[in-house]
Amino acid sequence: MPEKWDVADLPDQSGRTVVVTGPTVGGLGHHTALELTRRGARVVLAGRNPAKVEETAATIRAEVPDAALEALHLDLASLASVRAAAEAAAQIGPIDVLVNNAGVMAPPYSRTADGLELQMATNHFGPFLLTGLLLPQLVESGDGRVVTVSSRFHSLAGKAPLGDPREQLGRYHRWLVYGQTKLANLYFTAELERRLRAADLPVRALAAHPGFAGTHLAANGQYGRSSGGVASIVDAGVRAVSQSAAAGAWPTLMAATADLPGNTYVGPGGPGEMAGRPRTVGRSRLARNERAAQRLWEISEETVDLRYP
Ligand SMILES: NC(=O)c1ccc[n+]([C@@H]2O[C@H](COP(=O)([O-])OP(=O)(O)OC[C@H]3O[C@@H](n4cnc5c(N)ncnc54)[C@H](OP(=O)(O)O)[C@@H]3O)[C@@H](O)[C@H]2O)c1
Repeated sequence: MPEKWDVADLPDQSGRTVVVTGPTVGGLGHHTALELTRRGARVVLAGRNPAKVEETAATIRAEVPDAALEALHLDLASLASVRAAAEAAAQIGPIDVLVNNAGVMAPPYSRTADGLELQMATNHFGPFLLTGLLLPQLVESGDGRVVTVSSRFHSLAGKAPLGDPREQLGRYHRWLVYGQTKLANLYFTAELERRLRAADLPVRALAAHPGFAGTHLAANGQYGRSSGGVASIVDAGVRAVSQSAAAGAWPTLMAATADLPGNTYVGPGGPGEMAGRPRTVGRSRLARNERAAQRLWEISEETVDLRYP
């Protein structure tokens, strides 16, 4: 395991295919895709807004003219959309890495067409279904990886999200629920890794977090947009006090490419894991609860109607 990982250490990615969810310009997905294409990877940009995905492709091509990019339409807040995306992704062939990066943070309360709370749907159930449906292609690569982007805020959760996901029990606390979705990302990683080993499949599951990075996440969550009026002010304010989105992508890039065992969690190495060069990091005591991880897996299988591996 490299002690001090640097983006300059990113190995040649020629011949590898990576699917990155949530690749909007200025976010972690964009910078993850950019660095991977610089090293020769073929990157599939999986986003819900075709115009934004096209904008990302054009922005990357301005820096990497021969970038091998493809687009995949994917709305993680809709189980039907995830299924359609996975069907369309069959033509991609073997997938070396799936980066479950897309997410929303602390939006107002709402339920999706599937009856799921929006944050749990987007940040956990959608990625859970997508990963299961793409697993055969990850296996086909011979050495697949699933990297899921969590957060330091996983420790805000208080308790594991193990209730009926289609029922609202008590008041909606947007930050607690965000924390629960990020806790769910770590449970998902740990339990996926456990099951992959038990099934002896050539795929590893890892997690990463970016510390505090200047993306559109806060403005999108609070205002549903990142520009115009107060949303622009929040967006600029976050960028002023955080590390760059490019640096925020480094932990994901390390988890996606470095020689690391399954269930490794990578985050920035600076004080409070807020910024800096990435290294392996710890997780909260609650996040290490294996029984909760197993229970969430069972609930997730039932919720999305897919059992795997
Ligand atoms: N930035 C940070 O400091 C920070 C800290 C901890 C963890 N994270 C995590 O990092 C990940 C990336 O966030 P970011 O900071 O890069 O924020 P961002 O700039 O807001 O990017 C989020 C991405 O997710 C996409 N997305 C949202 N809902 C979706 C849906 N239903 N279906 C498909 N895609 C959807 C967004 O697409 P649209 O543009 O179409 O909305 C966007 O591409 C998230 O999982 C977040 O929890 C970020």
